[in-house]
Amino acid sequence: MERLSGKYSLNQRVGKGTFGEVFSVEEKNIAKSSTGALHVLPRVAKIQKRSKKRDVMLENEVRAMIDLSGKGVIPQLYEVMKDDENHIIVMEHVKGLTGKALFDTRSHSLTSKRLMGLVEALCTLEENHIVHNDLTPNNIIEKKNGDHIIIDYGLSYLDAWERGYIPETKKAGAIGTLMYASPQNLDKYPQKTSDIWSFGVIAYWALTKQFPFGRNAMTRQAHAIEWFSKNNDVCAGKRHIPNHYLQKIQEETIRGIRHEINIKCIDDNCKSLISIMKDAGVCSEGISMILKCLEVDPIERMQASELVNHPFFRHYL
Ligand SMILES: Nc1ncnc2c1ncn2[C@@H]1O[C@H](COP(=O)(O)OP(=O)(O)O)[C@@H](O)[C@H]1O
Ligand SMILES: [Mg+2]
Repeated sequence: MERLSGKYSLNQRVGKGTFGEVFSVEEKNIAKSSTGALHVLPRVAKIQKRSKKRDVMLENEVRAMIDLSGKGVIPQLYEVMKDDENHIIVMEHVKGLTGKALFDTRSHSLTSKRLMGLVEALCTLEENHIVHNDLTPNNIIEKKNGDHIIIDYGLSYLDAWERGYIPETKKAGAIGTLMYASPQNLDKYPQKTSDIWSFGVIAYWALTKQFPFGRNAMTRQAHAIEWFSKNNDVCAGKRHIPNHYLQKIQEETIRGIRHEINIKCIDDNCKSLISIMKDAGVCSEGISMILKCLEVDPIERMQASELVNHPFFRHYL
């Protein structure tokens, strides 16, 4: 942190994730041009407490940022700093819409435009053999010019399907954010088309305002944590819920979501998903596109390069 504060002044917090915090920063000693103008791109510092697991995530993130540099889908990387306690990534501050706000519209035409921007970014990842593995609205920023920037590559891996490499970062639990994770990521075996499943979940949610899978399991998880807290006198800063208990609840939630996926996609042949999409007014091209993303078999799932030409994106033109 000393190195960071020696060079940058820390301004407001712009985000918080599972593993750390992100602050906007300003370089302290930048030489002004003769006109006094400052031509410096705004920057942020992503600060994370170090651990063995997070050091691997940092490597993944930095590697993806270098490989995708200049391709318009990732923030520009400025520098990486490490001390005994933290590691810090200083990168471009991407300004724009992110999270829920991205799809906070009932217009299917606007949503299809946004989804198209996201698919274009996913094509770039695919061309560069990068699977993000944690594609959620919180990890997407839409710039004013319509470009979609994907952030947070800690769980990404490259050429994994060829090299049989599975991220060391997550021995326990699933890989990614549960509601968006593909069946294989829930089983800890990410695939080349894992991000396409997450894209399918995002598209389904954006167009119907409902999640296809996981809501009940997540509610049960919240209840289990609440029940434990009430019965064990846990309150903020006083006592923590033991890790083994949290892990047990997490495994239960993952099993619940995995089971729901099988029931809805295989046993029920997607009938309930289709009926919800029809009720929400999703066009037939939209329904067929989402179903090709939510294929349980990763080989049957569409690739980004195919998705980009899907008739859904022409429906609203
Ligand atoms: N380069 C960036 N520009 C603007 N906001 C960012 C940037 N990087 C991260 N953020 C914000 O900080 C949040 C957390 O960062 P993220 O990299 O996703 O960390 P985590 O791995 O903890 O989820 C993001 O959801 C986003 O809102
Ligand atoms: Mg994130």
